[in-house]
Amino acid sequence: MGTGIRVSRLTGVLGARADGVTLCPDIDPAEVSELRAALVEHEVLVVPGQALSPGAQAGFSHLLGDYSPVPFVQPVPEHPEVIKVVKEASEPEAFNFGGVWHSDFSFLDAPPAFTVLHALDVPAVGGDTVWASMTAACDQLPDDVRETLEQVTAVHSASASYSPAQQGLHSGLSGMDIRTSEAAHDTREHPILVTHPETGKRSLFFNGTYIRGLRGPGIGDGTEAGATQERKLLRWLHDFTTHVRFTFRHRWSNGDVVLWDNRTTQHGALNDYGGERRELNRTTVAGPTPAA
Ligand code: SIN
Repeated sequence: MGTGIRVSRLTGVLGARADGVTLCPDIDPAEVSELRAALVEHEVLVVPGQALSPGAQAGFSHLLGDYSPVPFVQPVPEHPEVIKVVKEASEPEAFNFGGVWHSDFSFLDAPPAFTVLHALDVPAVGGDTVWASMTAACDQLPDDVRETLEQVTAVHSASASYSPAQQGLHSGLSGMDIRTSEAAHDTREHPILVTHPETGKRSLFFNGTYIRGLRGPGIGDGTEAGATQERKLLRWLHDFTTHVRFTFRHRWSNGDVVLWDNRTTQHGALNDYGGERRELNRTTVAGPTPAA
């Protein structure tokens, strides 16, 4: 028997909406399977009209996998798996958390598979989030670039975001407790061309925020020519992967839960709601180490 969940696509590339379901920690396993299948197929899944407490959001997230540790950002008191993404109306000039193209914590050995973001108090207009499909971008890679990328790994690090030099930026957000540290300089290499562990589809694992370098034959090899190639390819990859033809943009309403597959998408939040408050709760679900 069907679950009653209705899934409808929101663009021709990525993004779908699920209606007819109430998210909670003891949701029917058949509904979890259906939501998970829609999530990995469409990469971003919007579930409107939800009312999850922080504990219930963590409980629901566990149905998709284990908790994925959150570095640098302190959790909500009494809910160690939940972080609050909040910018107050009085902080129009403050840095927008998640406001540049990235995939969550790609600098970890095992970055999160999924992120779950629940809108609690969002502006009437503005503060949309935009995702780009790295599966669609991978499908359209020119052959010569694909051949090059098969031999390239990316060096991920949180240094540009969470090293102590960035503390002033984060301290402008009164509702978030972000503690930078020297550990942000740690680096991890992941392949750029990866295979999704559930769908078997090829995808790019690229984002311009946490990828600080590339390594491959004649690229990032310590020579001047290698450094030039590295810079050129990083710029090309950023421009190509974030092209509007690969994107889906969500306009938030209070109660929305949006889940995304962090392994096959990049995202960024827009900072165009000066003078209004924006508050969402976020949980992350563990994933495997990216594999070519
Ligand atoms: C994030 O990058 O996790 C936050 C995205 C958003 O606030 O829309």
